[in-house]
Amino acid sequence: MSIEDLESIAQAMVAPGKGIIAIDESTSTIRKRLESVNVENTEEHRRAYREMLLTTPDLGDHISGAILYDETLRQSTKDGVPFTRVMREAGIIPGIKVDMGAKPLAGFPGELVTEGLDGLRERLAEYAKLGAQFAKWRAVIGIDEDSPSSTCIEANCHALARYAALCQEAGLVPMVEPEVLMDGNHDIDLCYEVTEATLRSLFGALYEHNIMLEGTILKASMVISGKNCEQQASREDVAEATVRCLKSTVPATLPGIVFLSGGQSDEDATAHLNAMNQLGPHPWPLSFSYGRAMQQAALKLWGEDMRGNYAAAQKTVAQRARENGLAALGQWEG
Ligand code: 13P
Repeated sequence: MSIEDLESIAQAMVAPGKGIIAIDESTSTIRKRLESVNVENTEEHRRAYREMLLTTPDLGDHISGAILYDETLRQSTKDGVPFTRVMREAGIIPGIKVDMGAKPLAGFPGELVTEGLDGLRERLAEYAKLGAQFAKWRAVIGIDEDSPSSTCIEANCHALARYAALCQEAGLVPMVEPEVLMDGNHDIDLCYEVTEATLRSLFGALYEHNIMLEGTILKASMVISGKNCEQQASREDVAEATVRCLKSTVPATLPGIVFLSGGQSDEDATAHLNAMNQLGPHPWPLSFSYGRAMQQAALKLWGEDMRGNYAAAQKTVAQRARENGLAALGQWEG
């Protein structure tokens, strides 16, 4: 796999008007989601739910790729068609979450470092064989009175760079995700500061590890007020601050940036992306890689009545994809 191949996968992931659906919840995270709609967390329910999402009619019109969890990459529809084939036929690039989760960072109470580098070379080789063309690794940076520490930021960015190098060696596009959490009562200015420091550290580490940025995608969090902050920044302010922060930290050679939704409402996630694109043109396409903001309406319907609401649930997935696709072009009208 050459750099040109990685580059063309990365570009396809952020093709105009298209974005990514993140359905890579680990078994413990999907448990929370399923139980929130009174569905038991069994392998068959997880499979059936992901089948509903991935077989949404015309999903590929606005979705370029989907991030799967290990179990899902190996599963098939109830009729026995592997999910990777369903995706290929719909023009959707298979991606895979490869980190093993954020664990307590020893010596830094309350802070986290993402694990999963041991044995990653072998796992990536298998994922490539199974059809994955890109991978995702999520680092978690929390904001509190004394955190994040620079040690936490550096440890996470070092791991992201080592993961990215292994991905490129295996012929997969690394999606690097340093998520600055919305939890807390911090204001948007502090979120800006932490996001800026994190992205500076990340791109420094990627440089030190010889990462080809042309074959890399950044999955970023928006610069936004903490969930419990009394002074909530406007949509325009979120868009302006996020774009300013990215422009001051992310090299223009990167093929694209996609955002996580991080607990925002569906409408806020779409409106923020749209507002950012209305401030363009930017050095890179800005699109979406939403989990909750793509799925939550569909999950609720499907959970209420798996058979009876099947088509209605898929309709909401298609609708969220269409709206976010328009927002990726700055053409969403609310
Ligand atoms: P949310 O959009 O729900 O934040 O999920 C995106 C994701 O993949 C987090 O790793």
